[in-house]
Amino acid sequence: MHKIAEATSYIQKQHHARPKFGIILGTGLGSLVDEVHIDCSIDYQDIPHFPVSTVESHSGRLIFGTLGNAKVVVMQGRFHYYEGYSMKEVTFPVRVLKNLGIEKLFISNAAGSLNPAYGLSDLMVINDHINLQPDTPLRGANLDSMGPRFPDMSDAYDHQLIEQAMEIATEMDFECHQGVYVSVPGPSLETIAEYKYLRVIGGDAVGMSTVPENLVARHMGLPCFAISVITDLGIPGKIKKINIDDVIAAAKVAEPGLTQLIKQLISRQ
Ligand code: HPA
Repeated sequence: MHKIAEATSYIQKQHHARPKFGIILGTGLGSLVDEVHIDCSIDYQDIPHFPVSTVESHSGRLIFGTLGNAKVVVMQGRFHYYEGYSMKEVTFPVRVLKNLGIEKLFISNAAGSLNPAYGLSDLMVINDHINLQPDTPLRGANLDSMGPRFPDMSDAYDHQLIEQAMEIATEMDFECHQGVYVSVPGPSLETIAEYKYLRVIGGDAVGMSTVPENLVARHMGLPCFAISVITDLGIPGKIKKINIDDVIAAAKVAEPGLTQLIKQLISRQ
């Protein structure tokens, strides 16, 4: 609580606005920042207790500004368990965003497809998840002032936001899937047997993020929307050697559509 309060008050000293929505940019949503009229940007390294991103493809700063006509705070750069952070560190920024006053959280990520109907650079709105991470940010003493000991997860991803996103995709005339995201620790990609297993247990896409942030958001009662860009195919017969440049290239193709979808979705709140 003390660390969250210190980080919050540092940020509020730099910038007074109260953002209504929080956005966590994963691979594939970088260009959303170009749509934000930026009022203020703060490097993670200057914020007390904030972790600092170690992955080259993720820069680290908080951006405050206006998207459409809504005040937003954007996390450019997120934290992953595989980088060595604890789950509490990975999700610390989400606690701070809630403390800054956000009312809804929007997340994007890159993911491998498990569903044979999905192609490269397709979008999948996450309607549920399976958590295969080895730890949870909610482990340990519960602070009842923040949220319940046993948070309900039957609406992990807000039904109304999902519906609105699907409507927007139809209006914009691009295909958007809906499915179950499996969160794994990484950093190694899946073996062929693991891709098959993740499909069998009910996954449509697999990635290394999002679920920790979602758990903390739901713990605090924050409605959450999340969307994956399919950057590689974990489908028997279509599995290829992966390198990060291919992942980023596949994400880039989806970026304009995803950016417009999130912008529209936020403007309808
Ligand atoms: N597996 C896990 N994480 C990922 C993948 C994948 O195939 N693609 C992008 N992130």
